[in-house]
Amino acid sequence: MMVVMGATGNVGRELVRLLAEAGEEVVAVARKAPAEPLPRRVRHVQGDLSTPASLAPHLRGAAGVFLLVPGGGEGVDPQALRTHLEAARVPRLVLLSSLAAATRPSAPSHAHLRAIEGVFRDSAVRWTFLRPGGFASNALAWAASVRAERSVAAPFADVALPVVDPADIAAVADRVLREDGHAGKVYALTGPTAISPRQQAAAVAEALGTPLRFVEWSRDEARAMMLRFMPEPVAEGTLDILGTPTEEEQRISPDVARVLGRPASPFSAWVERNVAAFR
Ligand SMILES: NC(=O)c1ccc[n+]([C@@H]2O[C@H](COP(=O)([O-])OP(=O)(O)OC[C@H]3O[C@@H](n4cnc5c(N)ncnc54)[C@H](OP(=O)(O)O)[C@@H]3O)[C@@H](O)[C@H]2O)c1
Repeated sequence: MMVVMGATGNVGRELVRLLAEAGEEVVAVARKAPAEPLPRRVRHVQGDLSTPASLAPHLRGAAGVFLLVPGGGEGVDPQALRTHLEAARVPRLVLLSSLAAATRPSAPSHAHLRAIEGVFRDSAVRWTFLRPGGFASNALAWAASVRAERSVAAPFADVALPVVDPADIAAVADRVLREDGHAGKVYALTGPTAISPRQQAAAVAEALGTPLRFVEWSRDEARAMMLRFMPEPVAEGTLDILGTPTEEEQRISPDVARVLGRPASPFSAWVERNVAAFR
């Protein structure tokens, strides 16, 4: 049995599907019930990572756990999570972290991810850390304005980054949970090419078969928008990465291809699967 935390999110939803397809029993944890029906062999459990004791009964007997830390890590106590995973003798943990846990060693925005990596690094659980760059699914933030007025607004229009398809992250997590040989490994997960916001908008326009107007926001305009749905340190840290990425953040990692034995999916593949959100 596998336990997937954040089971209704971009990565978790796809991971649950892959594990179920592989014949695993899955406990899918999130605070709210999933909007869509779950595959066979999947049981939804209402649970909150900020009250880890409530998750404890569902960890017993798990062959592996997929863990993420939502938002800026508010209310999540990594040490308590470690205690519960060790008490349940969970043999294998896949932690969804971020490339920025390594590339931004002193940024407050990613302190919670550095902290949880640090807590699990010397634990009895055999861990694997997944460190993705920016998700292709962040483009869903454009869906409403594309639908309503055929326009996209974003800062740093021409700064290209190798955004990763969350389905590739899920595919890597699936392998790591079910295969040997990944314990103690840290995988940097990116897409196959760097692509700027302007090029991403063009890919959405092409999939829709209709032109889109691109508006380049200033950093301040983008910051004001982001503060509506994320804590300030996370917004600032994200803008730093989007505007002035380090060399490491721009680098295309071989890890998706190494683990999956096939190339990472391009942004256009993510758009093709998600074009309905922009119609
Ligand atoms: N987006 C990026 O560009 C990017 C880049 C690098 C790393 N990351 C990391 O990726 C993670 C987000 O992954 P995602 O996009 O797959 O997630 P997501 O789509 O934002 O979904 C979050 C999932 O976690 C659940 N959740 C939220 N708070 C919870 C809580 N307190 N207890 C239990 N479940 C909770 C949500 O369901 P409920 O709301 O129903 O609980 C949902 O299933 C974050 O840790 C982020 O740091 C993101």
